[in-house]
Amino acid sequence: MTFVVTDACIRCKYMDCVMVCPADCFREGEVMLVIDPDTCVDCAACWRACPAAAIEADSEPGMEGWVAFNREYAARWPMVTWKRGQAFLDADAFKEMPGKMERWFSPGAGAGDR
Ligand code: SF4
Ligand code: F3S
Repeated sequence: MTFVVTDACIRCKYMDCVMVCPADCFREGEVMLVIDPDTCVDCAACWRACPAAAIEADSEPGMEGWVAFNREYAARWPMVTWKRGQAFLDADAFKEMPGKMERWFSPGAGAGDR
């Protein structure tokens, strides 16, 4: 089992999840994070910490595609293990916004740890 990040993270990217993960699972894209499904130890700490409710267990209905998405981008994006600060100052305005994948997703890599 693993937890996965969904499109609710896009343009919010609060990164509170990173600070509670005991296994360095998070990888950073330009506008969202993903979880490396092969590293996740299924502790649910990130699920509890995310202010945008963007993280789900892969056992929830409809998560198969998100597992593949997280695995694909985890292989492309750099590891991030600490919260540098608020990525988007207007993040709260994007919470629960529909259609974020179509409007705001970027395949570009984020900075990762530096
Ligand atoms: Fe990390 Fe636990 Fe979240 Fe998996 S469930 S990504 S181990 S905090
Ligand atoms: Fe995204 Fe939530 Fe983490 S918005 S960066 S999954 S705290």
